[in-house]
Amino acid sequence: MPISADAPLLDVNGLASGYGKLRVLHGVDLTVRSGEIVALLGPNGAGKTTLLRAVSGLLPCDAGSVQFGGRALGNTGARETARAGIAHVIEGHRIFTQQTVADNLLLAAYDLPRGERASRIEEALSWFPEIAAKRHDRGSSLSGGQQQMLAVAQGLVRRPRLLMLDEPSAGLSPVLVDRVLGVVTRLRDTGTAVLLVEQLIEKAVAVADRVYALAQGLVVLEAPASTPDLAHQLERAYFGHREGGRTPAVLAPPT
Ligand SMILES: Nc1ncnc2c1ncn2[C@@H]1O[C@H](COP(=O)(O)OP(=O)(O)OP(=O)(O)O)[C@@H](O)[C@H]1O
Ligand SMILES: [Mg+2]
Repeated sequence: MPISADAPLLDVNGLASGYGKLRVLHGVDLTVRSGEIVALLGPNGAGKTTLLRAVSGLLPCDAGSVQFGGRALGNTGARETARAGIAHVIEGHRIFTQQTVADNLLLAAYDLPRGERASRIEEALSWFPEIAAKRHDRGSSLSGGQQQMLAVAQGLVRRPRLLMLDEPSAGLSPVLVDRVLGVVTRLRDTGTAVLLVEQLIEKAVAVADRVYALAQGLVVLEAPASTPDLAHQLERAYFGHREGGRTPAVLAPPT
């Protein structure tokens, strides 16, 4: 079913999820539009990773809905969400260290038509010249930053419509963080949407169009990244959510 031009690409409504009896997300609403970079911020344990897992079908959707490209995705499973065009780069840049860079990418391309795999691998490598030069080397020979680049490249092999990155900066030097986030900015120009979980608030806000803050499994702030005084708003949202009840603060774009 075609979706209207202004419908969000990803539309999460009232999503509840967690681990068995442990409910972590208590009704999360979040949207991402095509070509938009959305930063998902929040303190440790807020439920950011859990939200990405639920969207990508790794965790059940206990209540609410996940729509992607106008299609209901909740509880369809990880394989189906990947097919629909969502790539999820999980926390901690897990790659196959005993395999070469090229083979890691080939594994990510497993269900693409055979004749397209080589060109898709080259396309993904073109985002990261640094690891392209090491395509025949084992993953274990890459630095932490290069392993993170490879993990992102694995997501890009599939030409996702939405790339979800879970703390891509973790353990990286400031220069490498800028390199990875620079790719995120360039991806937006190709129309790819990005949902970026980050602890480095300033860096995330600098590349994002819009920001959500999550605390204790609830959205406590939604705001354009250009909001003046956003850092202060975020701090209040992180720590003040208990006083404010369950209604998130939604800041209007500056005029
Ligand atoms: N596999 C799991 N089994 C049970 N509980 C879990 C599991 N993973 C996370 N949790 C719990 O779910 C809650 C949210 O965790 P989550 O990892 O989503 O937070 P986060 O916002 O990503 O935090 P961080 O910034 O530390 O990565 C926490 O209370 C955590 O202890
Ligand atoms: Mg996390």
